[in-house]
Amino acid sequence: MHRPAPLDGQPIGLLGLGIYLPDRVMTNDEWAEYVDTSDEWIVARTGIHTRRIAADDESTADLALAAAGAALADGGFEPADIDEIVLATDTPEVFAPDTAAYVQARLGVGQIPCYDLAGSGCAGFVLALDVARSRALADGRRVLVIGVELITRLMNWKDRNTCVLFGDAAGAAVVGSGAGAIEILAATAGTDGTRSDILGLETGGTRQPVTMERVRQGLHKNLVMDGREVFREAVRRMSEASLRVLVKAGVSMDDVALVVPHQANLRILNAVAARLGLSEERVFINVQQYGNTGSASVPVALWEARDQGRIKPGDLVLLTAFGAGFHWAAMLLRFQESPGMDSGC
Ligand code: ACO
Repeated sequence: MHRPAPLDGQPIGLLGLGIYLPDRVMTNDEWAEYVDTSDEWIVARTGIHTRRIAADDESTADLALAAAGAALADGGFEPADIDEIVLATDTPEVFAPDTAAYVQARLGVGQIPCYDLAGSGCAGFVLALDVARSRALADGRRVLVIGVELITRLMNWKDRNTCVLFGDAAGAAVVGSGAGAIEILAATAGTDGTRSDILGLETGGTRQPVTMERVRQGLHKNLVMDGREVFREAVRRMSEASLRVLVKAGVSMDDVALVVPHQANLRILNAVAARLGLSEERVFINVQQYGNTGSASVPVALWEARDQGRIKPGDLVLLTAFGAGFHWAAMLLRFQESPGMDSGC
């Protein structure tokens, strides 16, 4: 298939965006039926009011496929236009093979390479966008990037410290070169593996295989989280990554129209905004409706920001995310006018 070389002057960036949110809305009051909690506690500590819960007959690949189809349609692409798939998730279809293989088979894209960025936590989608950009740059590829989590299926519904925080969702983008792309101007990422102990889903691998005993104790769904440490690291890393990507792009925070952060919880987002000196209207927040949707949170937020008219042609938009690992990533985008990308602009 022939298409323009990536360095032909066409910007490399996002050529289509799509999301999928399961129908079922779960309120905080419903959580009180499972654990000792209340709407007041959850709203005060997290800002979350509702989250989406996938239907019993939905799996991770179903969510991913729905978002992928929406992204293709948004950009005016057919499955055959895609050269590669990279999918970020911590909640895969099965342990192996990766979820991207299931998506490839059902999307009708042919036998193109596809792979997961597994376990990269809530930073996964932004990391995957950066991988896709380098594939587009080096090889002229058009890459389908997906961030998807069906975390409510794998978490412990009896652990009030964690269960109230999360929700299910998927988001996708087509990345490649094209006149109307939401241009990727710069990206940065990092990992501090010494902090892997403060957040993770540890059971199921070779260190802690699933055993009858662990299942009996409910440990097979044990999300390890040191909430206060995660809070501290998240604020620091998302803020620092944001500043670093601005330096890389040679612009200042004053040039940025909107920051679209990973939606962990409202207090984290407010603290990041305060550190970066951002007023309320320059930070996009939808954690109130969806909770923390892991690697789906950034694409869902970006899609909604565009849909709600919060982004104008020419605007610089900063993505910033952190997640288990500890991984962090930030990316600076420039929106452009384009027939395929104009809803909400
Ligand atoms: N309902 C009622 N009480 C609760 C609940 C709940 N759902 N969860 C915990 N509590 C209790 C605790 O047991 C504790 O009780 P105790 O004092 O009797 O021991 C009390 O509330 C206070 O707990 P703290 O840990 O002090 O509460 P804190 O103000 O730190 O808030 C929270 C907890 C919301 C988890 C906070 O630490 C936080 O936001 N951390 C960041 C975690 C996060 O965002 N994780 C998302 C995944 S990470 C990611 O996106 C990469």
